[in-house]
Amino acid sequence: AGKVKVSWVCENCGGTFGQWWGTCPTCQTVASVKKFIEAEVSRARGAEVSEAAVRSKSWLSPKSGTMVPLSLADVNMGRNQSEWRIPLAGHFGMEVSRVLGGGIVPGSLLLIGGDPGVGKSTLLLQISAILAQGFNFKGPARIVYVSGEESIEQIGNRADRMGIATKDLFLYSSTDVEDILDKVQNPPPQALIVDSIQTVYLRGVTGSAGNIMQVKECTSAFLRFAKQTNIPVLLIGHVTKTGDIAGPRILEHIVDAVLYMEGERYSSYRLLRSVKNRFGSTDELGVFEMSESGLAAVSNPSEIFLSDNFPDSDVLAGLAIAVVVDGSRTFLIEIQALCVSDPSSASRYANGIKASRADMIIAVLMKQAGLKLQGNAIFLNVVSGFNLTETAGDLAIAAAICSSFLEFPIPNDIAFIGEVGLGGELRAVPRMDKRVIAVAKLGFKRCVIPKAAERTLTSLNLEITILGCKNLKEVINTVF
Ligand code: TYD
Ligand code: MG
Repeated sequence: AGKVKVSWVCENCGGTFGQWWGTCPTCQTVASVKKFIEAEVSRARGAEVSEAAVRSKSWLSPKSGTMVPLSLADVNMGRNQSEWRIPLAGHFGMEVSRVLGGGIVPGSLLLIGGDPGVGKSTLLLQISAILAQGFNFKGPARIVYVSGEESIEQIGNRADRMGIATKDLFLYSSTDVEDILDKVQNPPPQALIVDSIQTVYLRGVTGSAGNIMQVKECTSAFLRFAKQTNIPVLLIGHVTKTGDIAGPRILEHIVDAVLYMEGERYSSYRLLRSVKNRFGSTDELGVFEMSESGLAAVSNPSEIFLSDNFPDSDVLAGLAIAVVVDGSRTFLIEIQALCVSDPSSASRYANGIKASRADMIIAVLMKQAGLKLQGNAIFLNVVSGFNLTETAGDLAIAAAICSSFLEFPIPNDIAFIGEVGLGGELRAVPRMDKRVIAVAKLGFKRCVIPKAAERTLTSLNLEITILGCKNLKEVINTVF
C-alpha cells in the first residue's frame, strides 16, 4: 500500500495545515478545518499503471530535471505581440477579451466562477464557438468542450438553440481527468474547456468529485497540462453556499486568472469581473445581456441600473441617482429611500448598501443637517440588486433620504457624486472627471459634487451645470 499523508484543509479558503485548528489561521472561519487522508498519488496509481505509462503522462505529476533556465531572448524569440494572446472576435468576444486583458494567453489556466444558473456554461460555449471559428489561428482550429455535467446531446441542443454550428468545436462528456487529457490530445486542440471542476476527478486521489482534495489536485493537473502543452485551459467552477462541494475560492491561488460571473436571477444583465489576472489588470468589468441565443455585449452600459421609466415620467420622492465606477465602467444607479413616520419603530432596512454605512449617513443627516429622522422607519434600496460599495454613493443615499423625508421629488435631471463625512462635509472621490462625463453623456443637466472637486473639472468644458457644495446643509438648500 502507498504511504498515507494526513493533512488538515480549510473548506473555505483551502489553506492546508499540519494540525487541526478550531478557527482557520488563514481566513478565520470557525470550524472549517477538516481532516484529509491523502494516499500518495504516484504510489497509489502505480498499482494500476506501469511506471513508464505514468512518466509519459507527464501532466499527472510534476516532472523534475527536464527544465533548464532559458535566456529571456530565447523565451521570447519567434513570439510576436499578436501571438502572445488569442484575441476573441466580434462584439461579444471583444468584451470578453477586454476583461481578460486582451485575450486568452496560450498555456494559461483560467477559472470562471459563478453561482449555479448564472450562465457560465452558456458563456463558455459561446467563447468556444468564437475560438473555433478560427479567425485567430493560422491552421485549422480544434476547440474541445468537455462537460461532466451534461451529455453531448444536451450540449448539442444548447448550441443549437444558440445558433452555434461550428464543425471545429468538439464536444466530449467525461468526468475522469486522465481520460479527458488523453482524449483531447489527438490532435492537440487550441483550447480546452472543462465544465465544471467540481464534477471531474483524478484516480488515486481520495474522495469523490467536488471535495477539496479532488478539486485542488484536478486543477493542478490541468495547470501542468496547460503549461506543458501551451494549450489554454478554461475551467468552470460553481460558487456554493452550502459548502458541501469545494468552491472556486480555494483555487484562486493555483490558476493564472479568475473571472467571476455575477447577476441577479430576475435581471437579464450579467457582469463578468476579473478578480485575478497574472497577465493583466484586474480592474476590468464586462457587461452582457442575456437572450434566447446567448449573451450579447452591452455597448452602453452606463444606464442599465436606472429604472425603466427614467427620465421622462412622473418623478417620485425618495429617488436619487448615484454615479459608480467599477473597473473601467461607469454606472448611473438609482438609489431609493422610503421614510415612514412610525414613532413606535425606528427600523432600518438597507438592500444593496452596507447597513453600517446607511446608519452613519442617517446619523449625519440628523445631527449635522438637522433632519428629524427620529421616529421614522427608513428603507433603502439600490435598483437592480447592484451592490453599492463605493463611498461615492453616500451623497445620493443622503439625497434620497432627504427627498423621501421632505416628500420633495428630486428633479430627474440631477445626479449626485460624493462621500459624506461625519461632520456632514462632502469629500472628493476618485475619478470625478470620468463620473461627470458619464452623467453629461446621459443628458443630465445638473450634477451635485463636493466643492473641493470642482477645480478638477474646470478643464472639461461640459454641457452640464456643476453644483459644488461644502456640506449636506448646502446640498439641501441647493436642491430642495
Ligand atoms: P447556464 O449557462 O446553464 O448556467 P450555469 O452553467 O452557470 O449553471 O444558464 C442557465 C440557464 O439560463 C440555462 O437554462 C440557459 C439560460 N440562459 C439563456 O437562455 N440565455 C443566456 O444568455 C444565458 C447566459 C443563459
Ligand atoms: Mg452549467
